[in-house]
Parts: sequence; structure tokens; C-alpha cells
Amino acid sequence: MAKCLVCNSSYDSFISFGRQPLANGFLLEKDFGKEYFFDMKVGFCSNCKMVQLVEQPNREQMFHENYAFYSSTSSYMVKHFEKFSETLLSRYVKSPDSFVVEMGSNDGIMLQNFAKKGIKHLGIEPSANVAQVARERGVNTVVEFFDSNLARKIVSQDGQADAFFASNVMCHIPYIGSIVEGVKILLKPSGVMAFEDPYLGDIIDKTSYDQIYDEHVFFFSLLSVSHVFEKYGMELIDIEPQITHGGSMRYFLANKGAYQVSNRVKEQINLEKEIGLEKMDVYQKFASNVKKSKDDLLEILRKIKSEGKTVIGYGATSKSTTIMNYCGITPDLIDYISDTTPIKQGKFSPGMHIPVKSYEHFVKKKPDYALLFAWNHKEEIRSKEKDYCNAKGKWITHVPNVHIYC
Ligand code: SAH
Ligand code: TMP
Ligand code: ZN
Repeated sequence: MAKCLVCNSSYDSFISFGRQPLANGFLLEKDFGKEYFFDMKVGFCSNCKMVQLVEQPNREQMFHENYAFYSSTSSYMVKHFEKFSETLLSRYVKSPDSFVVEMGSNDGIMLQNFAKKGIKHLGIEPSANVAQVARERGVNTVVEFFDSNLARKIVSQDGQADAFFASNVMCHIPYIGSIVEGVKILLKPSGVMAFEDPYLGDIIDKTSYDQIYDEHVFFFSLLSVSHVFEKYGMELIDIEPQITHGGSMRYFLANKGAYQVSNRVKEQINLEKEIGLEKMDVYQKFASNVKKSKDDLLEILRKIKSEGKTVIGYGATSKSTTIMNYCGITPDLIDYISDTTPIKQGKFSPGMHIPVKSYEHFVKKKPDYALLFAWNHKEEIRSKEKDYCNAKGKWITHVPNVHIYC
């Protein structure tokens, strides 16, 4: 039995993915023997309703000066964060003297929208390479891990903040208690926190088990998020479902009583109870769906290969590491993975060691099938890849079930 990272109760795991490498650990051939693996299991705490990774690598192994994920690679996400900033500016960051802080600011994709308007801001980003890109964009950034100690330091230097944002990073941090304590210290009494992360309801609904990898330690629902913040006198005041990252939820939180609570919060919590997110049964069913997804995907890949066709992976996503290592997708099933990120090209995928090649390679070679690892960018890719389909190229996806489409 493991101990819950939030409430310290004992809980059981409901799924095991076996040995997994670091999801963003793209590597050179000379480093194959030095790869790090950990035992990837997920469990559900019935006391505080948190779904969580039982074991997680150290943060310094994941977030460092060679971090492979640059947020602005996706033009869709650039627009998404521009709209998100407009939402915040119109609702919660109205004064021109406001101070906003972002945790996990990466290459400045979000904060650049505040910097351009001359709004006082601070990005906190431990991965030095992406932080450097943000600075070059005019985004003030400190290369640090956020926690309650850093929050105290920021308050003493810059004063309290009007808003605190965190996109796709709250779910990365096992010491969530220190984060929420830091948010409480950092925010003015009327301050608002807004964060978004892949949503547990979508993961269950779509069997998108590839959202589970080393960096994602928590799979949030409103039920679990409310519980975490309650302890620090904060409450959910609103939510907004998002289509990003395969289905996310945006949460707005504030000090208890500071804002009116939207009806949407109650409605979504009721929905979560209806789906059964507060009981183990739904997670056991998820585990059996995941097993079926694996069997179906392997069957399709083996059939295609037996017909002498070519298959490649599209997008060397962090998520693809879980799919390849859990399903056992070796280089004899997939020739290479096409990816637009220069830092990944010329390297090999974590664990299964499939070569990562440039996007131009894919365009030139036009494989018969492309396994859509970047399925969360499906629409962006569909409109970009009309030529591939016209050339009779086909897509394979595992979401919400394994199928081929064109
Ligand atoms: N917000 C961006 C980046 C998400 S990736 C987006 O949505 O696209 C998560 C980022 O959080 C990484 O850049 C990682 O380096 C950073 N991170 C991880 N732990 C952190 C911590 N404790 N404090 C601040 N940033 C952290
Ligand atoms: P993400 O799913 O974590 O956002 O990562 C997306 C990865 O997919 C990133 O490495 C870039 C790559 N990618 C492509 O190669 N082509 C594309 O069209 C898109 C949208 C992403
Ligand atoms: Zn718990």
C-alpha cells in the first residue's frame, strides 16, 4: 500500500505499466546503457479522491537545462494562451498596476501576452533552456522550482500578486501542499489562481492512458482539487473545460468567500459523482480498457507490417513514451518518429529507441501509415497534412479506441 501525497491515507494502485523511462528522455545511441527506468503504477485515494502516480523520478531528472518540451512548438497553443490571457485580463487582472506570476512559464508562451502590455509579471521556470527563450521574448523569468519558500521570497522582493497561473504543471508536482501554501502566501486577499491540466474525466472517457507518464503525478478532478485547496482556506470559484491536451479543465480558485461560486462548479461535481470518479470501480474498468487498447493497437501494427507496409510515429510526444513502452512497440513495428522539435531530432525515443527524424523526412517519404502520437493536436495536424491523405496516407489512432482513418 502507498501513502497519498495529499492526505497521507493508505491507498491501492489499480494499474501498472511496468518499467518506464523518462517520457522526455530522448537520447543518443551512446547513452542507451545509462537510461533511467522506474516502476509506473497509478492509484486512487478513496479518502481525498486523488488519482496519483505511486512513484515518481526526482524533479531534477525531469526538469533541467535540456528539457525537451518547448510550449510554443504548437501554434494552436500559442493562440490558446493568448485567449487565456484575455480571459484573465478581462475578469481578474483589470488594473494596469497588477502583478501576475506564472509557475512553469516555459518559453513564455503565456506571459508574453502580459509582458507586451507592460504588466508587471514574473515567470518561474526551472528548465534553464526554455527559460532562456522566454527571457529573449522579454518575459521576466527566474530559473527556480516554485514552492512556499520561493513564494515568501517573491513577496518580500515584489509584493503580493493579483493572479497566479499554472498550466500543465500543477499535475507535475508531488509536493502539492507546499505549492498551494505558496499560492496562499503569494496572492493578495482578493487574488485569483487559474490553472489547467489534463482532466481525469476525459482520460477515463477516452482511455487516454498515455496521459500517464513520469511528469504527470496527479490526474485531477474537481473532487480532488477542491479537497487540496480547502485545507488552505481556498475554494473553486469557477471552471472551464478545455479541448487542449486531449481534454483539460481550467480551474479558478480564490480565498473562501472572496468571490461568488459559479453554478458550473456544483454541476460538474455532480457529474463526476455520476460518472463514479469517487469510487474505485471506474478505475478498475479503465484498467481493463487500457489492456484492450494495447492488444488492439499491437494487432493492427503487426497486420500492417505483415502486409509489407510502412508505419511511422507522428509527433515524439511525452505521451508516446508510455504507449511504446507499455505496448512494446519496438523499431521493427515503427520505422521512425517524425517531430518538428530540433532538440529531439537525431535522437532516439526513450526505452524503445526508435529514431526521431525531422518533419521533412516524413514529407519526403510519405509512409503508408502514421500512428498519431500527437493525437491531442489532431485538428491542427489534419488541416496541415491534406497532402499526406491525398497521397493515400492513413492515420492510426488509439483514442478513444484503436482505429484507422484518413
Ligand atoms: N505552462 C507551459 C509548460 C508546461 S510543461 C504549457 O502549458 O505549455 C511544465 C513546465 O513546468 C516545464 O517547463 C517545467 O520545467 C516546469 N516546472 C516543473 N516543476 C516546476 C516547479 N516546481 N515550479 C515551476 N515550474 C516547474
Ligand atoms: P505535446 O503533445 O506534449 O504538445 O507535444 C507535441 C510534440 O509533437 C512536440 O514534440 C512537437 C510534435 N509535433 C509535431 O511534430 N508536429 C505537429 O504538427 C505538432 C502539432 C506537434
Ligand atoms: Zn488522499
